Formats: sequence, C-alpha cells, structure tokens
Amino acid sequence: MVSKRIQNMKPSATSTINGMVSEMKARGENVISFNVGEPDFDTPSPVICALEKAVEDGKTRYVAVGGITPLRMAIADKLRRDNDLVYSIDQICVTTGGKQAVFNAVMALCDPGDEVIVNAPCWVSYVEMIKMAEAEPVVVKTDENYHLDLQVIRAAVTDKTKAVIINTPNNPTGAVYTAEELKALADLAEEKDFYILSDEIYEKLTYDGKKHVSIASLSQAAYERTITLNGFAKAYCMTGWRLGYAAGPADVIKGMIAYQGHSTSNSTTFVQWAGIAALEKCNKEVEKMRTAFEERRDCMRGRLDRIEGFKAGMPHGAFYFMPDVSYWFDKTYEGENGPVVIGDAQGFAKYLLKKAAVAVVPGDAFETPNAVRFAYPVSVETINEGMDRIEAALKELK
Ligand SMILES: Cc1ncc(COP(=O)(O)O)c(C=O)c1O
Repeated sequence: MVSKRIQNMKPSATSTINGMVSEMKARGENVISFNVGEPDFDTPSPVICALEKAVEDGKTRYVAVGGITPLRMAIADKLRRDNDLVYSIDQICVTTGGKQAVFNAVMALCDPGDEVIVNAPCWVSYVEMIKMAEAEPVVVKTDENYHLDLQVIRAAVTDKTKAVIINTPNNPTGAVYTAEELKALADLAEEKDFYILSDEIYEKLTYDGKKHVSIASLSQAAYERTITLNGFAKAYCMTGWRLGYAAGPADVIKGMIAYQGHSTSNSTTFVQWAGIAALEKCNKEVEKMRTAFEERRDCMRGRLDRIEGFKAGMPHGAFYFMPDVSYWFDKTYEGENGPVVIGDAQGFAKYLLKKAAVAVVPGDAFETPNAVRFAYPVSVETINEGMDRIEAALKELK
C-alpha cells in the first residue's frame, strides 16, 4: 500500500483527456493538440554546441549540489541584467527543471499545518506540492481578468500563512501582472510577514510591449521575502533538458540545497554548462520565438473572437488562453445512446476531442472548473486548422 501522502494526491485532471488523445493517436487519428504546454521550436544551436563541448571536455562528474559556479555566476548576471536583481552565488541554487525549483522552495519553507496561498487559475502542480509538504493549500480566485485580487488575498491571510505563490506571465491564463499589483502584494507580504514564491518561467514571453516585472525588485522588503523561481524550458525550448534555478534569501537557498542534496543532488553536469550558453548566447533566438508566439496569439485570439460564447480576454504573455466555456454547459449533442449534455468543462473538452479531434485541457486541472485552457505553441496553420474544426463542431451543439 502506498503512503497516505501519495493516496492524497489528486489524480491529474488532464489524465482522462491525455489518455483519450493517446488512444486516438495510436489509432492513427489526426489529433490537434492545444493541450500541451511545450514550445515546438528546436533547442537553439549554441546550447547544443555547448552541451557537445561539455561532454567532450569530460564535464560528466558529480558537482556541487547547488550548481557549478560558472552557471550560478551567469544566472546572477542574467538576474542583474534582465530583472534588476542583485544576488550573490550563495543566494542561487540550480535545479533539475523549474518544477524542482518550486518544489524545493515549498519543502524548504513549509512545516506541517502552514498555509500557502495560491492564486487560481494556477499551474497544476502547486497545490499537490503544498500537500506533499503537509502544508495547506489555500486557493483564492484572481479577478475577472485573471489578475491578482489583493482584497481576496488579504482576506485569506492568517497567522499560519507562510507564503503566497504567484506566476507571471501566467500558466494557464497568459496574464502578465503589473508592477502596481505586484507592489501591492509585496507591501502585504511585508505587513503580514509571509514569503512570496515567484514563478517567472514564462518571463521571456510577453507581448504588446508589456514588460515582465520581478516582484523581488520592487522593494527591499520584497527582496528579503521572495524566492524567484525560473527555468530554461519555455524561453530556450529546453523542456527535456531539465534545468531551472531559484534565487532568494541565503538561508532559504541553503535549505533548498540541503533538501536537494538528499534527493536529486546536482542537476546534470553537462546540461548546466549548456545552460550558460542559453543565458549568454541566445538573445536572437529567444526574440525570434517570442515574435512567432505573438503572431500565434493574435491568430488564436482572432479565431476565438469569431465564436459566440468564448470569453477569452487578451492574454499578454506565455502561450495560453483560458476562456470561460460555461455558455455551452447546457447544450447537447447526439451520443451513441441518445442526447448527451455537455455539463461541464470536462464534457466540453471531451466533446471537442471526439467531434473535432482537438485536445484542450479542462479547467479543473487549474482549479477553475468553468474554463478550458488552449495552448498555442504550435504553427499558425495548426491553429487555423484546429479552430476550423472547433467552429464546425460547436455549430452542431443544440
Ligand atoms: C508555471 C510553470 N512553472 C513551472 C513549470 C515547470 O517547468 P520545467 O519543465 O522547467 O520543470 C511549468 C511547466 O509547464 C510551468 O508551466
């Protein structure tokens, strides 16, 4: 029998849809995947070259748990350059993906019974990570535009609140938080004395001239209370490389490294050397991809706008839309055994998959049951093809 901790884990709300997608693909069906949050570009060549050189140079051994010094220095430079943040090497920890950065931070900070506030819609793993640390997730809603609702957050703070997790640009909504709302949260963190876990993994993907702001840069109090979390997966198309990092107060980072020392130890040595090339030699590639994502965002927005019933808003970052789809919940279609009511976002996603062979993720996965997530890290042609199919399928609902 597995532990209560594991039994307690909510099965992923994406698993039903993912299972159906796999079966359909195995049958040779042409499924369009708007459900996957992974850029479709290749990893930039400077990163590949740096990896090859590192392997040839024998960079294949154990290294310091918190990361090799040259990468930590490159991260410190990057944070100074891009984020207006000054960190020393002992305030930086290299991790095996952005996911491990978040998990280590939660494990290093939380005692059983501590509360961690999460702003929904939110990335699928935050709540489960908090539960694994035997802390209490407190899920609060963002406002109707998917921005932080400071009044709601304030009302949720108790004397057990250890931290608030934020993610900007946001998965699953694409929202990019403003300096004003971040400053208001930073002020609340100072007033009530809690930490901020700031997941900035989509920072390079902002559109319409919007700028990503790191909350830790907004005041000394915010700097002292924030763990800035980031990874290479989204900006540099390095999803499979598993490289990320955290920067924050030295004692918290020390705790994260201690925890990592007894779990995964250092992230892959030669991948760390390649990470330096990503940070130092890939500006051109990143900008090219960002421009392509902006074009895709515009395309998908135009297509969603054409369909009555989607309330999509205008995301300024990442590569997601999170429209409310409750308009369709009372609609029906002809199933094998008679009429079927769509009912909820799971039903909506299942219908699109069956009828249009287009996969989207139901919002339950992100603590937002009335919405679905569309991911658009795919070509404009694929977006148009998928949206053609969706438009046709929705016309058939009664
Ligand atoms: C908001 C957010 N944080 C963290 C991660 C983890 O990224 P990585 O692949 O670097 O572990 C993801 C990946 O989807 C994400 O969307």
